[in-house]
Amino acid sequence: VREALALTARPEVISFAAGLPAPELFDGEGLRASYDHVLATEPHRVLQYAASTGDPALRGIVGARLAAGGLDADPGRILITTGAQQALALVSIAMLEPGDVVLVEEPTYVAALDCFAHVDARAVPVPTDDHGMVTDALDDLVCEHRPKMVYLVPNFQNPAGHTLPAERRETVAAVAAERGLWVVEDDPYGDLRYRGEPVPWIASLPDAADRTVLLGSFSKILAPGLRLGWMHAPPTVYAACLAAKQVLDLHTSTLDQAAAAHYLAQGRLDSRLDLLRTAYGERCDTLLRALPDALPEGSTWTVPEGGMFVWVRLPEGYDATALLPQAVAHDVAYVPGTPFFAGVPDPGTLRLSFTTNTPADIAEGVRRLAEVLRPQSGGG
Ligand SMILES: Cc1ncc(COP(=O)(O)O)c(C=O)c1O
Repeated sequence: VREALALTARPEVISFAAGLPAPELFDGEGLRASYDHVLATEPHRVLQYAASTGDPALRGIVGARLAAGGLDADPGRILITTGAQQALALVSIAMLEPGDVVLVEEPTYVAALDCFAHVDARAVPVPTDDHGMVTDALDDLVCEHRPKMVYLVPNFQNPAGHTLPAERRETVAAVAAERGLWVVEDDPYGDLRYRGEPVPWIASLPDAADRTVLLGSFSKILAPGLRLGWMHAPPTVYAACLAAKQVLDLHTSTLDQAAAAHYLAQGRLDSRLDLLRTAYGERCDTLLRALPDALPEGSTWTVPEGGMFVWVRLPEGYDATALLPQAVAHDVAYVPGTPFFAGVPDPGTLRLSFTTNTPADIAEGVRRLAEVLRPQSGGG
């Protein structure tokens, strides 16, 4: 992914590679006003060391958002983290021993695989379809591999874009309860829904409430540069993650938390979310409309209800990694799917991110992609 990101540097490249929010949609003015406000009114507090658990106002706002989403949230179990990435790292450090098994969606978020590998845990893939993890397979895999935890991105998954239906979430919760598994539910994209109805968090299901760690982020809805994320965790996990956070960075930036809390308390997020959903929804639709004419016959792709990603599976014989240099020569980029696999990778897969390009650029980018992918469709 890092290599692919480097390819986006040339301005003439239309990149579907980077999983970034659209920079022109950041509310720079609004955030600057909040930074000004907290620095003007509370400089002694916001420039000082602070509690490891996080800014009380920000924890309260996260708790209220969780409650609005149907989770019986306890603000005392909310830990503010330096991005959801730190939350994932804390969970890995605090909960996993070398050799422990983590069940993951196949494909899954590559930096989660990095976290598990970093603590010498073993990621075991669970098959997915257009609706995410195939939970029929879950109980057998649990009996076979004796995992300590299952890790999922249930809404608009990275990289595959799919959303786990309510019945499958209930199965995950039931298997976790019966077999004594921890569930790590990573939901940085849940607010970015463009169609369909929200599905309850696994963390909100009675079976899973005491064994699910829910992770969230302000990266995709406010700005990733703030590095603000959070976790809502059962007490024992919370205590272990808090201890790990104290070792790593004492606490997340007091100033950034205070500015974000001030911004959110103004009630400005809802109108920002409307703006993001409208713009990203249009970009998503533009990509989905263009793909059928651009991809070789026999290709399949996900139709996301939100988030940032469409996952493409090219027909047998195509290798998305091998084709990438040709794509870049045609001034278009994507991320090959291979790094997202915990098991045997499917070389014909690739991830397209639709958030950072205008509809016109998306249409042109897909046209360039077709120049690379279509000529081969006749020759196999
Ligand atoms: C599934 C998933 N989890 C976690 C993260 C990390 O987000 P953050 O910027 O909050 O660290 C990302 C970022 O792309 C992601 O896609």
